Formats: sequence, structure tokens, C-alpha cells
Amino acid sequence: MSETLLEVKDLRTQFKRGKKDWITAVNGVSFNVNAGEIVGLVGESGCGKSVTSLSVMRLHNERLTKISGSIKFGGKEVLDLTTSEMQSMRGNEMSMIFQEPMSALDPIMRIEDQLAEAISLHNSNMSKAEIHERCVNALKLVGIPEPEMTLRNYPHELSGGMCQRVMIAMAMSCEPKLLIADEPTTALDVTIQAQILALMEDIRNRRNTGILLITHDLGVVAETCSRVIVMYAGNIVEEAPVKELFANPQHPYTEGLIASVPRLGKRLHRLPSIPGSVPDLSVMPEGCRFAPRCKYAQDSCKQKLPELQTVAEGHRCACPFYRNAREGAQQ
Ligand SMILES: Nc1ncnc2c1ncn2[C@@H]1O[C@H](COP(=O)(O)OP(=O)(O)OP(=O)(O)O)[C@@H](O)[C@H]1O
Ligand SMILES: [Mg+2]
Repeated sequence: MSETLLEVKDLRTQFKRGKKDWITAVNGVSFNVNAGEIVGLVGESGCGKSVTSLSVMRLHNERLTKISGSIKFGGKEVLDLTTSEMQSMRGNEMSMIFQEPMSALDPIMRIEDQLAEAISLHNSNMSKAEIHERCVNALKLVGIPEPEMTLRNYPHELSGGMCQRVMIAMAMSCEPKLLIADEPTTALDVTIQAQILALMEDIRNRRNTGILLITHDLGVVAETCSRVIVMYAGNIVEEAPVKELFANPQHPYTEGLIASVPRLGKRLHRLPSIPGSVPDLSVMPEGCRFAPRCKYAQDSCKQKLPELQTVAEGHRCACPFYRNAREGAQQ
């Protein structure tokens, strides 16, 4: 068994809305990430993927956010850390690549200054020459061909793919054990996307980094991840090893997501999609949140939020009418 890096239990994240109201964006999610594995976190826009990852990094505005449950990193409770302990854990032990690469780079600072700042924050006794060497190595690690030249550039002088590589270099510069990558390739074209994903796999292989890869691209998940977590409206609805999830999806939501992906070489006039949309946080349906869009929903689904249950080895699903149960009932 590989080492468990991150252990999230019953994480609930609420945001303040108005004077007294709190809305729940993440509603009790539990999952693990182990060293050396790439775990995919998928779900439609607004399902709570970014809120989950920002909660793990404790990057929400703490005055306007309530986080409960448990987030253990290397056995330590992240929610109990002081602000300065948290700062040292970020970057040193866990790091994040953000959804918008350009917004995370400072447009008026040269790449070297930004990278050096990130490195020296966690290595206060390093000399200038040592920091420079670390910067060069960080860019080499992400396959930037002329690191010395790139270090002198400003972000606007680089392409989107290069900026994303610099972001990954920054995130990896302190050799974190866990990397959270929030849609790291969404803004890039397909060939660059493939290079960035190959790069992340390479880093994982060389450093045994655990990676939580957030994406809504199931093709990316199929190619890169070993395990997948599916979120819907603030809950985890299914979790399985990647091959098992695609071969044998159990939750009606996962079935719908997979059915809406175009297959290579297969021309479809219209892709089937899941009718309806993700519910608004302030008007969450009672019971199963997917029930209003689900073709298998029964009256009982609208009463109680279904819990995740184990349906096969390593495979959890939050639906009493999961596929195997439905098919079993028909026989
Ligand atoms: N700081 C915040 N304050 C209030 N509501 C928020 C905040 N951040 C996110 N939300 C809400 O929480 C819900 C989940 O948002 P989140 O950004 O996690 O979605 P996502 O799954 O990452 O979607 P996408 O695929 O579009 O990135 C959304 O309804 C969003 O509007
Ligand atoms: Mg997001």
C-alpha cells in the first residue's frame, strides 16, 4: 500500500451570503490521495471542485467561510494549523496550480523574480546563486528549453503553454509531496495540453508526487488518472479506479457524463446530454440532489440524501438504484 498523503473526511465548506445566511458549496465530502497516484476530480461546472481544493489549501477568505470536517495531510490536521504553519505547509508540502494561469502570475515581475520569491519564502538561508540555480532547475524540470532566457522574460512575453509550465515550475519548486492541479490545461490547445499532462505524469514518476487533477475533460482523466472522484452539487456521488469507472459506471450522473463524451472515430449527430442543470446553491433539492435530472429517480430519492456505499472493490456510489442494483432487480 502506498502512503496516504491527504485524507479528507466529511469536509463541508460554507460561504457567508448576506448578513446571517450561509450557503453550502461543499456538503460533506471524504476522499484520500496517496503518494504517487493521480486522482481525477470531475463534475460539471459549479459542482464544488475548486471550492474543495481551495479548502484543502485553506485559501478561502476565512472571515467569510466556514470549513468543518477534517483535512489531514501527512497525518496532521490542516484545519488546526496556525496561519504561519499553514503558509509553510503550502508550497513546501502541498502546492496548487490554479484554473487561471495568467491571473496567478504577476504581469510586472520577471519570471525569475516570481520564482525566486516562491523559493526563498521556504528556504530563507539560501544564497542568491543557489536560488538562481533552483530557478533554472525548476524550469528545466518542466521542459523549458532555454531556462536562462525565460527567467528574464515577463509573463506577457510567453505563450499560454509556457506560462502554464512556469506555473507548474513554481508549484513544484519546493518539491511538494502533493500537487493540486485545477484545470491545468483547459486554456491550452490540444498539443500543449498533452505535453503538460505528460509532464505531470513525469514529475509524478520521478518524485512520487501525489496529484489531484481537477478537470471536466473525461478524456484527460481516462488517459492520466488511476482513480476518479465524481462530484455533483457539492457531494461525491461516485468514486472508482479509472478503468472500472469507464467500463462500469454505476451512478446515473456518471453514466450521463460518460455518455456525453464523443468517442474517437465515432460520428454522432447529437451527443446525448444530461437534461437540466446543476441546482443553485441557495435552492438545493431535498434528498438526492441529482434526482430532479435523473431518469431512474423514485419518490424515495427526494426524501433522503443517499450515502456513498461500496458497490465493488474500491468502487463507491451514492445511489440506491445504482446500475448493478437496477440490472439485478430486472433479472
Ligand atoms: N467565494 C465564494 N463565495 C460564494 N460562493 C462561491 C465562492 N466560491 C465558489 N462559490 C460557489 O460554489 C459553487 C461551487 O463552485 P466551484 O468553483 O467549486 O465549482 P467548480 O466545480 O470548480 O466549477 P468549474 O468547473 O466551473 O470550475 C458555485 O455555485 C460557486 O458559485
Ligand atoms: Mg473550478
